[in-house]
Amino acid sequence: MNNRYGELEKQAKLVLAKNNIGASTKPAPRLYPHQWFWDSCFIAIGLAGYDTKKAKTELRSLVGGQWHNGMIPHIVFSDAKGYHYGPEKWRSFSYQQSPDDIQTSCITQPPMLAEAVVRVGSKLNSQERKLWYKEMYPHVIKLHEWLYSERDPYERGLVCLIHPWESGMDNTPSWSELMKKFIPKYASHMEKMKLQPLLSKIRKDTADSKASERPTASELFAFYKLIKKLQVKKFSMNEILATKLPLVEDLAFNAITIRANSLLEQIATEAGQTIPPELVAKFELAQKAFLELSDDRGNWYSRNARTKNLIKEPTNAQFLALYSRAISEDNADSSARQIKDKKWWPKYGVATTPTDSAFFKPKNYWQGPVWVNINWLIADGLKHYGH
Ligand code: DGY
Repeated sequence: MNNRYGELEKQAKLVLAKNNIGASTKPAPRLYPHQWFWDSCFIAIGLAGYDTKKAKTELRSLVGGQWHNGMIPHIVFSDAKGYHYGPEKWRSFSYQQSPDDIQTSCITQPPMLAEAVVRVGSKLNSQERKLWYKEMYPHVIKLHEWLYSERDPYERGLVCLIHPWESGMDNTPSWSELMKKFIPKYASHMEKMKLQPLLSKIRKDTADSKASERPTASELFAFYKLIKKLQVKKFSMNEILATKLPLVEDLAFNAITIRANSLLEQIATEAGQTIPPELVAKFELAQKAFLELSDDRGNWYSRNARTKNLIKEPTNAQFLALYSRAISEDNADSSARQIKDKKWWPKYGVATTPTDSAFFKPKNYWQGPVWVNINWLIADGLKHYGH
């Protein structure tokens, strides 16, 4: 390793050490002071490179927040104060399915758990790995069972999301249109009157970060409003189905789920477990159904699950189809060609949106910047297809 990367590695390790909150790692010192599902999986993958004990502790803490029905919540709360949408808003203890002693959010995030378990496993000797897989298998399988029993209401093999926070890409353009109707009236009036600075004063998530790098106040208040509506429906798919609340077959989420399904099979084999055939059948259906998220030009999109219309907003999720490993060699080749286009790869890697998108803002959260975790997943997919 040359010195440049040596220094980078040193800094990365320092970030993880500074953000340690005991058994887990917070994604950011003040903005995100708890444990987040997919962040934590990426963190465990990083930790596994130099401290497998810490990596295991990270994932053990995460599955400590798993609900009795199998859902892994997107946030497992610590005692830290000051988060803009904390445990008092979610009230997880009011749901029988939530863990008895840990407060959590009531929605999920991309199921990176199987990947993290396997990456940690790859750093262990075969005996330790077997034990590790035996320990983690019940958690991973419960999660996948929940994804298909609760979140595939149309039994198509595609998991539905109920809130943009579940995508992990909060203000991704794929959700923007659907979220417009949740923008509170006062917020849209104030925006029309160019009173954004005033609106920004009432938000609590920008004390330590620039508002210009975060979702807009209107987007943020729409996120909150949708949570409140979901709370009335107890976050239950049965109840949500009977409403007009958004249901999205999110592209990135489903790509990650499909990859995780096959990693779960790998974990099961090494742990000496058999995945129930009904679930294996779902995995097979999922592989095929995933192909419906592509248009006839080979581009990939999320889909509105209620209308079955593709949401044709180009985002970096397009290249996560490679990570799923579910697409054809031809399609993988054309994706690999597209990545080289400057509009997707302006300078340092794949941007969140192409530079010719109406949404593109180079420093705004999930509407422009290059995210290293997504690029890592894309690289993994490219490598798989021989690129
Ligand atoms: C936030 O609070 O901004 C988070 O991204 C929600 O998960």
